Amino acid sequence: MTGIKRAMLLLVFFAASVSSLYSGAREMRSAAPAAEQAATRSAQTAAPSFEFFKTKVQPIFLKNRPEHARCYGCHNLSNRIFHLDPLSPGDTDWNDEQSQRNFQSALEVVVPGDPASSRLLLHPLAPEAGGDPFHSGGRQFASQNDPDWLVMAQWVRGVGTEAVSASQSLTRIYVTNSASDTIDVIDPATNQVVQVIHGIELPHGIAFSPDGTRIYISNESESVLDVVDRKSGEILKKVPLSGRPNNLAITKDGSQVLVGIRAEPGVLEVIDTISLQRIKSIPVDGAVHNVFVTPDGKYAVSGSLENKAVTVIDLHSQQAAWGVKFDRSVRPMAFDTNPDGSTSRIFVQLSGFNGFAVVDFAKQAEVARIKLPDQPGGFGVAEGRAGTPSHGIGVTPDGKSLWVNSTLANAVFKYSLPDLKLIGYAQLPEVHPLGNAHTGAVPEWITFTPDSKLVYVSDSAARLVSVIDTKTLKEVARIPVGEVPKRMNTLVLH
Ligand code: HEC
Repeated sequence: MTGIKRAMLLLVFFAASVSSLYSGAREMRSAAPAAEQAATRSAQTAAPSFEFFKTKVQPIFLKNRPEHARCYGCHNLSNRIFHLDPLSPGDTDWNDEQSQRNFQSALEVVVPGDPASSRLLLHPLAPEAGGDPFHSGGRQFASQNDPDWLVMAQWVRGVGTEAVSASQSLTRIYVTNSASDTIDVIDPATNQVVQVIHGIELPHGIAFSPDGTRIYISNESESVLDVVDRKSGEILKKVPLSGRPNNLAITKDGSQVLVGIRAEPGVLEVIDTISLQRIKSIPVDGAVHNVFVTPDGKYAVSGSLENKAVTVIDLHSQQAAWGVKFDRSVRPMAFDTNPDGSTSRIFVQLSGFNGFAVVDFAKQAEVARIKLPDQPGGFGVAEGRAGTPSHGIGVTPDGKSLWVNSTLANAVFKYSLPDLKLIGYAQLPEVHPLGNAHTGAVPEWITFTPDSKLVYVSDSAARLVSVIDTKTLKEVARIPVGEVPKRMNTLVLH
């Protein structure tokens, strides 16, 4: 490339990044708080990095993608827009110099910071998924969830350079796709999937080491705890469990992961996070479905479908301390706290009940049962989910409100705390299968941003995550994720 041409290219590149900065900031202004806006801005100005391009993006152009010709096969022609350097005879990869040329030609078809305006992303994407109407190279990517497409989007957005996360606190929402082998990672500043973790079939629960370097995922297909490197998404170790797991939790200090075993008789497996060995099995009342650690870190609480029981485990003695029996199977739980941080109440969802039970922690007993309103209604029967009318419950990090999913209402209800007054609800998306009645989203789980401004609901039937403004009760984004998204968790790094 001549000097003048290169200088022009840089100019175009600079202009593009400035314009994307402004349009991006405009879009964000309505929904995102100031700190998140700042984080978004820095993400969008970060130039796409060469290193990330060379190691992660470029291999996509050479790769045999099933039922598709390789990008390289056509784009090595010299007159092509988005020209890829011809490989030297015998070579299977580009050298550094060639990669630099490919990098420059890829930059010509992207708007830094803005995947939605980048031809590299739109041209080979299927029109049904938001791509251009026609590409002579075909619909290379069927959806915006295609892992290769996501890598290119990540590069265009300027992340993957680590420059984004280095300075500011980083928040990510993790979603396990329970009927697949992937975990989607959402950046709440942009409400886009920024990473996909692969290779864990039937992932269930997810927790993080306090320093954010590792992710722990219970794996139902192999009955192991997968230990994953957060940045690379690589599986570091598989810790064998005594039976098929369901959900898990991590102690506050991060020293132990507690995995609920779904097989009888019901134990909590304790995994030491330094040795990555199973060091203990704590007997509880019945096969475990969900397990939590109380906000003060003193107790673990497990719930059983079969034994219709909640077991509270003292984490100091690592023994069951007390429990509560119900007339129905125990589903997810949430906790609120006293002013001193100790646990005040447990909110317990139950099979066949469209609402939740209230357990007083000091009295060690159920003290109330709150039914959700009958309206809105009309969902859940066609989906075969009437037996689990309410699944997914959570208390905002500021402790001021309780959020409860309802499959029957296809909505999430908000209650104020501590008075448990109904504030209202947010409607969830409908699913429209061709020729069938509209069905609901079948919400499964709830998580929040650390500022308590947004609630994330996994819509398992809709392959979406709904993002709801906790003040206005309006859905502000729908994020496409994988098959049957269920458990979610929020990672916050400072
Ligand atoms: C069968 C040949 C073929 C394959 C394979 C192919 N392309 Fe293309 N591509 C073309 C042709 C021809 C054009 C120009 C005409 C058009 O836009 O259809 C083009 C145009 C493009 C453009 C430029 C759009 C513009 O005008 O700005 C981009 C970007 C692109 N392709 C990306 C890709 C990527 C990425 C892949 C692989 C995932 C790929 N292509 C695979 C033939 C191909």
